[in-house]
Amino acid sequence: MIRTYFNGKAAIWDEMAAERDQSKLRQMAARLDIWPGSTVLDIGTGTGVFLPFLRQRIGSEGKILALDIAEEMLHRAQTKAFDGVVAYLNADAAHIPLPESFVDSVVCYSSFPHFQDKAGALAEMYRVLRNGGSLHICHTSCREAINGLHNGIPEVCHDVIPEEREMRLMLSEAGFADVEIEDNCENYLCRASKPGGLEGFGVELEADIQRLR
Ligand SMILES: C[S@@+](CC[C@H](N)C(=O)[O-])C[C@H]1O[C@@H](n2cnc3c(N)ncnc32)[C@H](O)[C@@H]1O
Repeated sequence: MIRTYFNGKAAIWDEMAAERDQSKLRQMAARLDIWPGSTVLDIGTGTGVFLPFLRQRIGSEGKILALDIAEEMLHRAQTKAFDGVVAYLNADAAHIPLPESFVDSVVCYSSFPHFQDKAGALAEMYRVLRNGGSLHICHTSCREAINGLHNGIPEVCHDVIPEEREMRLMLSEAGFADVEIEDNCENYLCRASKPGGLEGFGVELEADIQRLR
């Protein structure tokens, strides 16, 4: 159902997206925990509207995996030249065709409300993130505006950003920690991390210290 809806929007999506404030997308990308050389999974990439901004963050050594359930949206993204930096996956967020601990960062820009199996999707995001990796669920409007917009469209009227308490509960049930939710008139940004990264870093630090002795 949601796949059919977005496949039907693919031909006009970029025209609609052109109305979005590009500087807000750039500012949002700049706030995400993404570093040069990172491997980033963009879930619900659509026609790839957010990809140029993610690409700026990963530098020349990084990689983006752009995933979407709607093949027509993804085909549009594939026609845009990203010089081999982006690989495309036609899949459901609740069944991500990647191995465990494969990515440094997961981004759901303007897509999370549409995932029909949110708990299943979060479990999969957790699985494919490396220890210490970050999840970002983001929009360049507030929760109330996004939910209000969807409410006026019959095909997506039940696709909402959950309220803060429910979002925190879902994230903690999936195993995420360090949850931060910012919701204001400009942006919605929910950030969470997969625990465990510091232990690995500590082992490396310990090895460096031993070498220096
Ligand atoms: C509102 S569009 C946003 C697309 C793009 N991120 C943008 O900002 O232009 C939401 C996208 O999420 C995708 N989507 C919805 N449910 C999905 C799921 N379960 N798994 C993967 N992608 C999904 C849709 O096909 C659609 O392309």
